[in-house]
Amino acid sequence: MGIYSFPRLVSAHFLMLFIAQVYSLNSDVSSALLALKAYISPESQNVLANNWTTATSVCNWIGVICGGQPQRVVALNLSSMGLDGTLPPIGTTPSALGSITSLKKIDLSYNKLSGSIASTIFNLSSLQIIDLSHNMLAGNLPADMANRLPELKELYLSRNQLYGQIPSSLFNCRQLKVLSLSSNSFTGNISINLGNLTMLKDLDLSTNNFEGRIPSSIGNCSSLKTMNFSENNLEGAIPSEIGLFLPNLLELQLQGNKLQGAIPSSIANASKLTLLDLADNSFNSPIPMTIGNLKNLQKLDLGHNQLRSESYSPESSFINSLTYNRNLRRIVLSGNPLDTMLPMSIGNLSTSLEYLELTNCKLKGSIPAEVGNLSSLISLKLGNNALTGVIPDTIGHLENLQSLQLQGNKLQGFIPYDLCLLGKMFELFLGGMSSLDLYQNA
Ligand SMILES: *[C@@H]1O[C@H](CO)[C@@H](O)[C@H](O)[C@H]1NC(C)=O
Ligand SMILES: *[C@@H]1O[C@H](CO)[C@@H](O)[C@H](O)[C@H]1NC(C)=O
Ligand SMILES: *[C@@H]1O[C@H](CO)[C@@H](O)[C@H](O)[C@H]1NC(C)=O
Ligand SMILES: *[C@@H]1O[C@H](CO)[C@@H](O)[C@H](O)[C@H]1NC(C)=O
Ligand SMILES: *[C@@H]1O[C@H](CO)[C@@H](O)[C@H](O)[C@H]1NC(C)=O
Ligand SMILES: *[C@@H]1O[C@H](CO)[C@@H](O)[C@H](O)[C@H]1NC(C)=O
Ligand SMILES: *[C@@H]1O[C@H](CO)[C@@H](O)[C@H](O)[C@H]1NC(C)=O
Ligand SMILES: *[C@@H]1O[C@H](CO)[C@@H](O)[C@H](O)[C@H]1NC(C)=O
Ligand SMILES: *[C@@H]1O[C@H](CO)[C@@H](O)[C@H](O)[C@H]1NC(C)=O
Ligand SMILES: *[C@@H]1O[C@H](CO)[C@@H](O)[C@H](O)[C@H]1NC(C)=O
Repeated sequence: MGIYSFPRLVSAHFLMLFIAQVYSLNSDVSSALLALKAYISPESQNVLANNWTTATSVCNWIGVICGGQPQRVVALNLSSMGLDGTLPPIGTTPSALGSITSLKKIDLSYNKLSGSIASTIFNLSSLQIIDLSHNMLAGNLPADMANRLPELKELYLSRNQLYGQIPSSLFNCRQLKVLSLSSNSFTGNISINLGNLTMLKDLDLSTNNFEGRIPSSIGNCSSLKTMNFSENNLEGAIPSEIGLFLPNLLELQLQGNKLQGAIPSSIANASKLTLLDLADNSFNSPIPMTIGNLKNLQKLDLGHNQLRSESYSPESSFINSLTYNRNLRRIVLSGNPLDTMLPMSIGNLSTSLEYLELTNCKLKGSIPAEVGNLSSLISLKLGNNALTGVIPDTIGHLENLQSLQLQGNKLQGFIPYDLCLLGKMFELFLGGMSSLDLYQNA
C-alpha cells in the first residue's frame, strides 16, 4: 500500500501510541503503556488501528522510518495522511519523551490538524526537521519553543492560522537553514536577531502581517538563497546590506509591502539573482541602472511603484541597460511614471523574453519596429501610455504572442494585417484611441 493511498480520518491520537512505542524501544515497556493508556482515543477506528499495533515493531508501522543498528526510529512521516484532531501534547507525557534521542524528522504536513502547537512538541532535542505546514493550527507559537532544539535545521509552519510574534528563542537555533512561516497571521517587527541565523538558506515570511523595517542584520545571513517577505506591512528602505553581503541570493521577493525610498544600486552586488520582485510598494527613485548588471536575472517585476527612468534619452534608458542580459524572461514595469521613450535597442533584449509589460508608464514616442525581434514574446503590454506613430507590422512576426495591449495610446494608421494571422493570440486590446486613428487594413 502506497503512503498516499492511506484512508482519510486517521486520528491524531495515534501519535501518542507512536510516541509510547518509540519509548518502549529503548526503555521500559510499562511506562510506555501508561502513556498509551492515557492518550489513546476510543474513536480510533481506522486503518492505523490495524497497522500501528503492538504486535509488530514500530519500524513496520506506516510512516515510521527506522535506521541504525540496533534499529531506532529516526523519522515520523505522516504527511498527507488525512490526520485530523488536535496536535497531541507530545511531551506532557512522562519525561520519557525527552529521551527519544534518535528522532530527527517529524513531518505532519498536509493534514487537518487543529488547535495550538503545544510547546512540548518542541521538546525532542534531537529534531532536525519539523514540518507542520498546510494544517489548521492556530494560536501563538510557544515563547520557549526553540530553546531545546539545538539541532533544528528546517522548520516549516506555512499555511496555518498561527499568529503573534516569532518567539525570540527561535534565533537560538543557529543551525537553521530553512524557515518557512508563510501564509499565517504573524505580526510584529522582524527581529534584529535574525542576523544570528547565519546558516539560513531559505527564508519565507510571506503573506503575514509583519511590520517595521527589514533589519540590516540580514546582511549576516550570507548563505541566503531565497528570501520571500512579500505581502506584509513592511516599511522603510531596503537595507543596502541585502546586495552587499548576500552574494548567494537567487530570489528576492518583497512585493506587496509599504517599502519606500530608493532601490539601492548595491542590489546588483547580489550577482546571482534570478528573480527580483519589488512590485506593489512605494519606491520612488530612478530605477538603478546597475540592475542591468544582473546577468542571471530571469524575472524582474518592479510594477506599481513610483519609479522613474534615470534618463529621458531612450538610448541610455533603463530598458537599454537590460539588453546585456541574455536570460530575461519577464520584465514588468507597469504602473510607474517612467516618462521615457522606448529605445530601438528594445529589439536587443533577450531572445528568451516572454513578458514585456509597460502599461501605464507615461511612455512617449513611437513603438520601435525592432520589437518584432523579440521572437519569444507571449505578452506585450504597452497600454495607457502616450505612444504615437503606427503599430509596427513587425509585431506580426511574433508567432508566440498571446496578448497584445496597445489601448489608450495615440497610435495612428493601419492595424497590420499580420496581426490577424497570429495563431496563438487570444487577447488584443486596441481600444481607447480616437476612433479615427486606426484603420482596418483591407
Ligand atoms: C503497516 O503498513 C506498512 C506500510 O504499508 C506495511 O508494510 C505493514 O505490513 C503494515 N503492518 C500491518 C500489521 O498491517
Ligand atoms: C515525507 O514523505 C513525503 C512523501 O513521500 C515526502 O515528499 C517528504 O519529503 C517526506 N518528508 C520528510 C521530512 O522526509
Ligand atoms: C523537556 O525535556 C526536559 C529534559 O529532557 C524535561 O526535564 C522537561 O520536563 C521537558 N518539558 C516538558 C514540558 O515536557
Ligand atoms: C544574537 O546574537 C547576539 C550577538 O551574539 C546576542 O547578543 C543575542 O543574544 C543573540 N540573540 C539570540 C536570540 O540568540
Ligand atoms: C513568495 O510568496 C508569495 C506570497 O506568499 C508567493 O505567491 C510566491 O510563490 C512565493 N515565492 C516563491 C518563489 O515561493
Ligand atoms: C518596530 O519597528 C518600528 C519601525 O521600524 C519601530 O518604530 C518600533 O519601535 C518597532 N517596535 C518594536 C516593538 O520593536
Ligand atoms: C554581523 O554580526 C556582527 C557581530 O554580531 C556585527 O558586528 C555585524 O555588524 C553584523 N553585520 C551585518 C552586516 O549585520
Ligand atoms: C559591489 O559592486 C561594485 C560594482 O561592481 C563593486 O565595486 C563593489 O566592490 C561591490 N561591493 C561588495 C561589497 O562586493
Ligand atoms: C543591438 O546589438 C548589436 C550587437 O551587439 C549592436 O551592434 C546594435 O547596435 C544594437 N542595436 C541597438 C539599437 O542598440
Ligand atoms: C531587428 O529588427 C529590425 C527592424 O525590424 C531588423 O532590421 C533587424 O534585422 C532585426 N535584427 C535581428 C538581429 O533580427
